[in-house]
Amino acid sequence: MHHLLTLFLFIFIVVTSSWPIRKPKLKFNSNSTCCILAKLHINATRANHGREYFANLILNNESYKDVNEDNICSLMHFFMQEAVLNGRPITFSKGMFILYDSTKQFFNHLMMAKDAQTHGSEEHRSGYFKRLKHFALSSIKSIFKLKKLNQSIPHAFIYVRGDESSHFRERGISQVHRKTIYPAYGMDIKHGCMPNDFGHILFGKLRDLYDNESDPYYGDRIYIKPEEFGLQKFKHYIGHSRKYLQHISRRVICKIEKFQRTKICSKDEAFRENTDIRLTKQWNQILSTIPILTENERKSMRLKVSKEGIHEIYRQTSKFYNDYIQVRDFRKALESKYGYDTRSRKGNEIIFTTEQLLESRISCDPIMLSSNLNHRIQCPMYNQSTINSVFN
Ligand SMILES: *[C@@H]1O[C@H](CO)[C@@H](O)[C@H](O)[C@H]1NC(C)=O
Ligand SMILES: *[C@@H]1O[C@H](CO)[C@@H](O)[C@H](O)[C@H]1NC(C)=O
Ligand SMILES: *[C@@H]1O[C@H](CO)[C@@H](O)[C@H](O)[C@H]1NC(C)=O
Ligand SMILES: *[C@@H]1O[C@H](CO)[C@@H](O)[C@H](O)[C@H]1NC(C)=O
Ligand SMILES: *[C@@H]1O[C@H](CO)[C@@H](O)[C@H](O)[C@H]1NC(C)=O
Ligand SMILES: *[C@@H]1O[C@H](CO)[C@@H](O)[C@H](O)[C@H]1NC(C)=O
Repeated sequence: MHHLLTLFLFIFIVVTSSWPIRKPKLKFNSNSTCCILAKLHINATRANHGREYFANLILNNESYKDVNEDNICSLMHFFMQEAVLNGRPITFSKGMFILYDSTKQFFNHLMMAKDAQTHGSEEHRSGYFKRLKHFALSSIKSIFKLKKLNQSIPHAFIYVRGDESSHFRERGISQVHRKTIYPAYGMDIKHGCMPNDFGHILFGKLRDLYDNESDPYYGDRIYIKPEEFGLQKFKHYIGHSRKYLQHISRRVICKIEKFQRTKICSKDEAFRENTDIRLTKQWNQILSTIPILTENERKSMRLKVSKEGIHEIYRQTSKFYNDYIQVRDFRKALESKYGYDTRSRKGNEIIFTTEQLLESRISCDPIMLSSNLNHRIQCPMYNQSTINSVFN
């Protein structure tokens, strides 16, 4: 009898856990009766292409074949257009997108593209690293001698940057793990394609925040950060050979020990510097006024906040806001400053979810608007909650 019961229980568990998950089906918004004006610097044609490309990358399992410079460049136009619509300044030169991808396909397909590259991604190839290093050295030499670079050395589009330690301070895991489990990847895009002089994209995965599938921030948590190449600054070192400089990617140069401390190889600080210092201080002070906490508890809570930022502060306030008025007030202030995504926000990053991006509107192409053949009009602008951003 007892065994029978156990068996039933077992079957029950197996059946319910393999139950199809009832998630609202992802849908790409194909309603193009109206469009949104593209902002300065953003190419509407590209933004629209990027929008379709995003949907394809998520929804089509063969899409990894289309991961290339041109498509990724369009994707960035789309992301920036969406960022502006979310109340972010147009001219950001520094900023990070965080994509919460409930489908877990965005990153997966980029990784499939990486694995399909003919020349690999330089992972686990110390020998190959050495070759690159050699290449970089000889290319620098060739600048001095004004020789042509050896163009036959292959470049992978997606490559491992190898400087992940700085991006994942929040994890609190060892450096070895950061490199093996959560490496930082890079993609080079030719200058002039992306807005605002960006020429490089840094991306990777962060630890997931919510494992409840009905949570809007469920799924992969991916950062995507457009960066300038910064190679121009390198001319301090190598004179006026700008034309040649464009051929050398920063990754190659930064593999050379001598240059690792120069500006162009500086570790990326964006994710850290964007945490709200004033808010963190305020919360630290409030923690001191909560009598039931021991000094050790306060200490570990503060440490966690310093690593994880706003969403951790928010999580902590939820434990106390019923009992302490100062916590309640603080929480309200937090919500009014950061809006509904407070619980998924570390600092000043631009937060997207896959659902939100799929539901986005198309951008108004100049051709589209001037053409009388179609009846597209500008979408009515609904008010967005503007975030007091420090992007500049
Ligand atoms: C498309 O969007 C417009 C403007 O928001 C709306 O009026 C219209 O009903 C939508 N059409 C469909 C088929 O959803
Ligand atoms: C926008 O991008 C398209 C497609 O890449 C290109 O043909 C067009 O010239 C660009 N427009 C501007 C204003 O740069
Ligand atoms: C892609 O999806 C199709 C249909 O959904 C399936 O037949 C095919 O095997 C999938 N391919 C891969 C590589 O997963
Ligand atoms: C260029 O690189 C290829 C591949 O490493 C090599 O075989 C070739 O000899 C190089 N050419 C020159 C001129 O260095
Ligand atoms: C998951 O989230 C939904 C909606 O927010 C909630 O109703 C449900 O209780 C949550 N489930 C778990 C296991 O936390
Ligand atoms: C949107 O903003 C405008 C001015 O900024 C304001 O007049 C209007 O009432 C707002 N609409 C809503 C629905 O909040």
